[in-house]
Amino acid sequence: MTAFNNSELSPLSSLEQWEDDLLIRYPEPEHKAKEAYRNYDSPERDTVREFYRLNHTYQTYDFVRAKEREFLSFDKKELPVWGAMEFLNTLVDDSDPDTDLDQLQHLLQTAEAIRADGHPDWFVLTGFLHDMGKVLCLFGEPQWAVVGDTFPVGCKHSDKIVYPEFFVNNPDSHDERYNTKYGVYDPNCGLRNVHMSWGHDEYLYNITKDYLPEPALYMIRYHSFYAQHREEAYDHLMDDHDRAMFNWVRKFNPYDLYSKSPKPPVVSELKPYYEDLIAKYLPATIRL
Ligand SMILES: [Fe+2]
Ligand SMILES: [Fe+2]
Repeated sequence: MTAFNNSELSPLSSLEQWEDDLLIRYPEPEHKAKEAYRNYDSPERDTVREFYRLNHTYQTYDFVRAKEREFLSFDKKELPVWGAMEFLNTLVDDSDPDTDLDQLQHLLQTAEAIRADGHPDWFVLTGFLHDMGKVLCLFGEPQWAVVGDTFPVGCKHSDKIVYPEFFVNNPDSHDERYNTKYGVYDPNCGLRNVHMSWGHDEYLYNITKDYLPEPALYMIRYHSFYAQHREEAYDHLMDDHDRAMFNWVRKFNPYDLYSKSPKPPVVSELKPYYEDLIAKYLPATIRL
């Protein structure tokens, strides 16, 4: 596989830069409209653009299949879930420690917002776990193969995906096996038959798939699939079951995007509740 230099591996100063940009693209309904996104220019914006240039260039069908083989054998590490969270929190980047929340704080804020709204405990647990797959970064993976909007590979890229112009650099765009509306798939074949661009969503789905209720698994697997849950660009690959389950994905998304508050949660106070929740649904250790 292609070797990448440092600026290709880490175009963003932190993984949060992608999420901060999502907030500008998809502001809370009461905040400013999407028009502002198109007109917004800043050095951060250029960084995010470069991130998507790399993502859209290198996330090919073959790249995804190779990453599936590499990471879905789960032979890297075995840890208790809380230990995996602490491992994730060793992810240090150039983000500003005074204003940015660490990974664990984002997960706890997401989960606590879900809990405050009275949702079932497995939904709260999903909020807590949903970004655990970002440990991929700690295995030396490029940022654009860990975070970023996800999209189906093996068929035509929708122009509803952010920065669609960069797909011209993706070899699949010029490969007739992959550049038609359905590509390697059948109409409405169901997303379970579709390979998504590689990242933390697909990875964590595979770690948790035997343990959580199906709506939780949809939330985990498709939470970065903005081209569908926000833009409905891939209805032609979905079946009726996917459509029903995407109600859950849409229910989850605001907690991911809009639960960030500058007040960091007190981890030690919350840990016992989450340890119990982990023990209720997940095995004593998980394999990464
Ligand atoms: Fe995420
Ligand atoms: Fe998140």
